[in-house]
Amino acid sequence: MSGAVTMEKIVNLAKRRGFAFQSSEIYGGLASCWDYGPVGVELKRNVKEAWWREMVLTRSDIVGIDCAILMHPRVWEASGHVAGFTDPLVDCKKCKERFRADKLMDARCPEKPSKHPGECGGELTEARQFNLMFKTFMGPVEDTANVVFMRPETAQGIFVNFLNVMNSSRRKIPFGIAQIGKSFRNEITPGNFLFRTREFEQMEMEFFVKPGEDDRWYEYWFNYRLEWYRKYGIRAGNLRLRTHTKDELAHYAKACVDVEYQFPFGWSELEGVANRTDFDLKRHTEYSGKDMTYFDEEKRERYVPYVIEPAAGADRATLAFLVDAYEEDEAEGETRAVLRFHPRLAPVKAAIFPLLRKDGQPEKAQQVRDLLAAHFPVQYDQAGSIGRRYRRQDEIGTPYGITVDHQTMQDQTVTLRDRDSMQQERIPIERLVEELRRRIDSAWTRPEH
Ligand code: GAP
Repeated sequence: MSGAVTMEKIVNLAKRRGFAFQSSEIYGGLASCWDYGPVGVELKRNVKEAWWREMVLTRSDIVGIDCAILMHPRVWEASGHVAGFTDPLVDCKKCKERFRADKLMDARCPEKPSKHPGECGGELTEARQFNLMFKTFMGPVEDTANVVFMRPETAQGIFVNFLNVMNSSRRKIPFGIAQIGKSFRNEITPGNFLFRTREFEQMEMEFFVKPGEDDRWYEYWFNYRLEWYRKYGIRAGNLRLRTHTKDELAHYAKACVDVEYQFPFGWSELEGVANRTDFDLKRHTEYSGKDMTYFDEEKRERYVPYVIEPAAGADRATLAFLVDAYEEDEAEGETRAVLRFHPRLAPVKAAIFPLLRKDGQPEKAQQVRDLLAAHFPVQYDQAGSIGRRYRRQDEIGTPYGITVDHQTMQDQTVTLRDRDSMQQERIPIERLVEELRRRIDSAWTRPEH
């Protein structure tokens, strides 16, 4: 039997089992900032690794990059962020809370949660534009000449390195440059746990194509990205594509489609795939004075490439994988949570248990742990009944449980239990690494109930 997944259940489980904690919690917490705990950090690393694998390692047409967060301030003038990366902001004169003027219907009055801001008797100020970029100062003098911005997207690091990467890695169009890294936005209304925060990680790829071939590549990339979420286990019914209307489009985009996920709080954007045209390279040519055109040697043609950009959030994807993995069932008269992650994404791949705490079983189980730890993140657990130990692992989504018992001491075999089928098989210890590797690398499908 399965209960409905709510954000409250996810946030509680995340804290109890070490996925994510409120930042600076002992000081009362810092709003909308989260720290990943021991299993959360592994989950997020696996999400980023799965992205890098499909977007860089397995592709001959994409290379990676890792740029500085702080960039020359002119970058953000060229990109349009200084002038236009703003949200309209209103204040409530009564409760002093701030709201996005264009999202009032999505917000609630903090004093009268049944009402929207402005409908509660509080008067709202005129809307004013608020720039979302965080500022800091470079060097010891805090004056306007030394202002630098914390990057609000990783994409611009890629654009300004277009020539460096193309020349150093001898790339021909079409090709892409991918990056995973932190971005910062002073969001007016962050919220929904890891969904919208002020510090977050992006996984972005800029794919440079010949103008005229952009529509075809745009369609290719949004399908490829949708498939990525499915491949790593998200239920097809919880995913959809939503095309931006003309008035929603960012200033740089000719077209954009969001990959959306059905979170407990409703359908929301996981990532955007945009056709950014030649906007960025042209603007950087204009602002830097450097020629950012491409010359096709074979066709003897020169042009400014168009760019197709799949831009995902690592934290949002991690949250979606966590929510989608969550299931409940009844075991021994109690409701238990099971996280059915794709084995590749699971934070811990296998748990090793001695059946008894005597007869040399703990020592043998430690040896098995040491053997596996060289290859996978694993955990050793000898506390409590074997049923309880399985349940603890189910709650963090460990796909395989390995038990050392009296037979192990005689024939060097262990039992290997599968989280989803709950079936057990006896395997010789010497074959464990190979067997786990085979199972983790196989295509995974969620069991039907
Ligand atoms: N370079 C294009 C770009 O940055 P975006 O739609 O603003 O586009 C891309 O951001 C992705 O980054 C989003 O789809 C989302 O997954 C993630 N993202 C953006 N703002 C975020 C925030 N405040 N908190 C968490 N993730 C965020």
